[in-house]
Amino acid sequence: MDRNLALEVVRVTEAAALAAARCMGRGDNVSADQSAVTAMRKALGDVQFRGRVVIGEGERDEAPMLYIGEEVGAAENPRVDIAVDPLEGTSIVATGGSNALAVIAIAEEGGFFHAPDTYMQKIAVGPEAKGVIDIHATPTENLRRIAKAKNEYVEDLCVVILDRPRHKELIEEVRAAGARIKLIGDGDVAAAIATSTPDTGVDVLMGIGGAPEGVLAAAALKCLGGDFQGILKFRNREEAERANAMGIEDPAKVYHLNDLARSHVMFAATGVTFGDFLHGVRFSSGGAKTHSIVMRSSSRTVRFIETSHHFEFKPNYD
Ligand code: FBP
Repeated sequence: MDRNLALEVVRVTEAAALAAARCMGRGDNVSADQSAVTAMRKALGDVQFRGRVVIGEGERDEAPMLYIGEEVGAAENPRVDIAVDPLEGTSIVATGGSNALAVIAIAEEGGFFHAPDTYMQKIAVGPEAKGVIDIHATPTENLRRIAKAKNEYVEDLCVVILDRPRHKELIEEVRAAGARIKLIGDGDVAAAIATSTPDTGVDVLMGIGGAPEGVLAAAALKCLGGDFQGILKFRNREEAERANAMGIEDPAKVYHLNDLARSHVMFAATGVTFGDFLHGVRFSSGGAKTHSIVMRSSSRTVRFIETSHHFEFKPNYD
């Protein structure tokens, strides 16, 4: 994959973030998401690649744009697989909360696990704790191992957990172990990335969130040198059967970083609202500023890009 592609696709996440940011605080998840999807799809049409959506807005019959299998791009080559979440954190934008992102990851063909639209139990950590986590171990045991690897006390660790009733026992155990907790309303991709970016104060992500988001998190952590493990969690028999039809034979399989992001990957995300490692979109007279992270696993280059947009002079992707 051409190294310049990473810099080209940041325009795609910028376009989605600019569109979604206009919906901040309107209490309307659907139009926030729709604005991001429309803008991202238009911007993808200008990228010099042929990208096949493998993680997207859903199956063809349920999503008119960026559906699984849709091909996008302005050229025939290089042929790549893309994983997109035009708006990660629709409720965050609807309520004006923090850490909403526009996200894209790119792999060689066949480079991403085709995650079914179900849940995934996840554990994510930064580079210092790479190789010590085990999703089958108890949260307490994982926290001990992570603290040891980071040369910290368990009491000093900060664990991010989605604030959901399904995490009642997990929260109780982490509290009993003595670690600190940051409960979030939404956005576990940002939380996973925060474990591996400096000065966020986040050490671990634990709990159950979306499986497609797990693939995006794994792609980001592969670039950042972090670690990730996940196990699919089906909400009902229909989801289990659909996964089986997609070729998933072992529902209890532990997916490691390299099972989810198999080839070298590129990753780009732009902040929609302010967050732990990215600023949100800031509108000003005639334009706006965006803040993005762009990275490649092959070189481990991590770039933070601050862009000034002047609406009079740029293509409109809304
Ligand atoms: P959306 O942007 O699609 O709403 O996803 C937000 C999110 O919080 C993800 O970060 C997370 O993986 C998932 O939803 C959790 O799902 P649920 O809200 O069903 O617990």
